[in-house]
Amino acid sequence: MTNFQVKTYDEYQQAYQRSLEDPESFWSDIASTFTWRKKWNTTLEWNFEEPDVKWFKGGKLNITENCLDRHLKTRGNKLALIWEPNDPKERFVRYTYRELHEKVCQFANVLKKNGVQKGDRVCIYMPMIPELAFAVLACARIGAIHSVIFAGFSAVSMADRINDAGAKMVLTSDGLNRGAKQIPVKRVVDEALETCPTIEKVIVVERLGWAVNMVEGRDVWYHDEVKDVSKECPAEIMDAEDMLFILYTSGSTGKPKGVVHTCGGYMVYAEYSFRNVFQYEESDIYWCTADIGWITGHTYLLYGPLLAGATTLMFEGVPTYPDMGRFWQVCDKFGVTIFYTAPTAIRSLMGGDIDDVLSYSLDSLRVLGSVGEPINEEAWHWYHTHVGKERCPVVDTWWQTETGGIMISTLANVTPMKPSHATLPLPGVHPILVDSDGKEITENGVEGHLCIKHPWPSMIRTTYGDHERCRLSYFSTYKGLYFTGDGAKRDENGLYRIIGRVDDVINVSGHRFGTAEIEEAINHNNHVIESAVVGFPHDVKGQGIYAFVICKDKPENEEWLRAEIIETVVEKIGKIARPDKIQIVSGLPKTRSGKIMRRILRKVAEGDVSNLGDTSTLLDPAVVDEIVEGSLSKAKV
Ligand code: PRX
Repeated sequence: MTNFQVKTYDEYQQAYQRSLEDPESFWSDIASTFTWRKKWNTTLEWNFEEPDVKWFKGGKLNITENCLDRHLKTRGNKLALIWEPNDPKERFVRYTYRELHEKVCQFANVLKKNGVQKGDRVCIYMPMIPELAFAVLACARIGAIHSVIFAGFSAVSMADRINDAGAKMVLTSDGLNRGAKQIPVKRVVDEALETCPTIEKVIVVERLGWAVNMVEGRDVWYHDEVKDVSKECPAEIMDAEDMLFILYTSGSTGKPKGVVHTCGGYMVYAEYSFRNVFQYEESDIYWCTADIGWITGHTYLLYGPLLAGATTLMFEGVPTYPDMGRFWQVCDKFGVTIFYTAPTAIRSLMGGDIDDVLSYSLDSLRVLGSVGEPINEEAWHWYHTHVGKERCPVVDTWWQTETGGIMISTLANVTPMKPSHATLPLPGVHPILVDSDGKEITENGVEGHLCIKHPWPSMIRTTYGDHERCRLSYFSTYKGLYFTGDGAKRDENGLYRIIGRVDDVINVSGHRFGTAEIEEAINHNNHVIESAVVGFPHDVKGQGIYAFVICKDKPENEEWLRAEIIETVVEKIGKIARPDKIQIVSGLPKTRSGKIMRRILRKVAEGDVSNLGDTSTLLDPAVVDEIVEGSLSKAKV
């Protein structure tokens, strides 16, 4: 039985206070509720200078024993995973904890049979099918480090990530369903692997039944491999600080970074935060709509709920197929009680007919969640009123790939809720706001840069293969603090509202892209000399991508050129990074030292050109007039 789910505001305050006064005993008690093969010697060792953070040092465990084996006695016949396909006419599939345990063990045995060992990196590029969940857990079972790559990334992006991690194997499928479309996933893998010398094997799961190219000696079908393997697979015993997974995310430079999470701390924080934020109950049917290719899918579709012994729903499709009522139809179909999605999905559904929501009962729902980007008040109220019928609290959860789990959020029905506010930190999380000099701002009713003062168990340990990058990105801006890259406000009552990134990162539909990463892709186009990318407010995506591009020669046909540039970005990164607007310019606003003044470009992109501030320090102030003029005429794609 767990004892770490606070149930009242009083309990929250007590737990918070205790976590401040004695963080080690606070976390040690929580960690004690898990199954460890050997207890840890030291709860926490840390410094934020190197950084070097170790939780539960000396402890031995396997996270899948905690997700699966420990539930078998009491919850063996309980549903662990419900899978709803893209097409509502196709039958859904359900797995009890016992069945999921078998599937994971079988997948683990297939990995072993194909040469995967503890510590090897395995790249997973798969659609949202049950085998993706089995694959992730199978890696964890045998101590292989999974690196899941969202199946919308391009071959080039996949190859970069595979090479950075030195992965040995790719797990994939023949193709995937996405709404009315079918996409040939294996073809993307084949293209990527032309430049990935470390890959020895590819295991292909059949989803569409398509004939695909199978490279002799390298590629095998999962259904062939699984035929004769055992349904038992002993769990590899891992050190608490052994790597569990790498997940790539964008930073402010061109190259995505491999965020590393480790076994013990991630496990403890995943279940702790899942239970507390959603106020999980044993009978819940829980649905997180995120793809497992993102951190939300890792922590709150898979690990968190399974650690808690919950029933978790996995959906292959999209919110708008076959119609705008699909999410709500699935909620009614399975009696979903906790629903966790992204503001971008809510905003896209708000654009539809209100009857698409109102024609479903949604009676089973009791908690709603939001993640990935600021939720604007209009979307918050629509969600609360029409989906939650003003009965369900909306938990606005702020966190990051690097934090591993939810850091600031309302705890459903326990702590205060306020539209568009993530509100209060979870017990054990110590956020602060600092001013531009790095000085802590202690009052309320203020705004600053959001930092975290003390380690928490699921925090990033390193960026794979480049520890210095981890230090520089998160621990060097403000001495002794983890810097989130976000700006935030704290209201008069101490409730946090996250405003957004203060670095060169754009959040498009809840997905992060470095402006440098998109610029680098654009610059690959033969016609392009230089580009500058900024975000701008977008009704559905939160932020859209606006690219200012300098070309070698004046293009004969600007439309064609824009289409070509888009194609280059899709090829280098993927469709998700497609610029929304491309403006061809003859110059960029640069300072005399050559630095692009993005502030000006951001204002132009926002359409706020009345006050561009001081442009006198620019090398060529006239360029601004041209950019403004161009933006008002035909900058749009
Ligand atoms: O800017 C914040 C925004 O998303 C960033 C983290 O992105 P990523 O690592 O891809 O993780 C997304 C899912 C956890 C943050 O730095 N963000 C995330 N959640 C919120 C948010 N902004 C405002 N409110 C949120 N609830």
